[in-house]
Amino acid sequence: MPAVTTNRTPTMKNLNTLLAGVFLAVALPFGALVLSGQSQLGGLGRAAGEEGGALFPAREPGLAIQGRAVYVSLGCVSCHTQQVRPAGQGSDIARGLGGRPSVARDYALQSQVLLGERRLGPDLANYGARTSQINVETLLTDPASSGAVWHPSYRFVDAAQRTALVAYLKSLRQDYPSPEAKLKK
Ligand code: HEC
Repeated sequence: MPAVTTNRTPTMKNLNTLLAGVFLAVALPFGALVLSGQSQLGGLGRAAGEEGGALFPAREPGLAIQGRAVYVSLGCVSCHTQQVRPAGQGSDIARGLGGRPSVARDYALQSQVLLGERRLGPDLANYGARTSQINVETLLTDPASSGAVWHPSYRFVDAAQRTALVAYLKSLRQDYPSPEAKLKK
């Protein structure tokens, strides 16, 4: 009887073990990273900042959800962040960008979280609650006349999209107390 031959040499067997080891060494920590985030934050939902108080964050109006898609498609994230930094990490609160630092729960209901890439314009996380709001319609169609110095013009955006965008910006609020961050009095 002829001996059973195999073309798997011992070196190849070692190579497979090595590759499997490399795969596991990358896959396991990566999996743990994803799962630990999910287990810490995945269950976050609405909560009352004070006992018996209203639940926040508020649900987004439908027009604001449409406006978010416009915001994404126009690339506003490339200049505007949506995260108010804690007092020790920047002057956001002193500059009036928000009444408290942003916390993970603020984004719990958002289908797409737009923290932003870099901040060339002001942070918009709490834009809807600002007392001094500029006219966004004018800012988009004729930035210079609204007092903006650097703002790109979005004159090409049609009126329906602009209306949705304005509704979205007005819906951006982090002016409620949350169990993780109390409002500055
Ligand atoms: C090239 C960078 C850039 C892009 C892109 C951009 N912005 Fe701006 N934005 C700015 C700057 C800078 C300011 C401050 C005003 C100024 O001096 O121009 C500003 C100001 C604003 C303000 C007023 C904020 C405040 O606190 O008063 C709003 C609202 C705003 N932008 C919305 C948008 C929207 C919506 C888009 C997308 C359609 C957008 N921006 C895209 C740079 C940008």
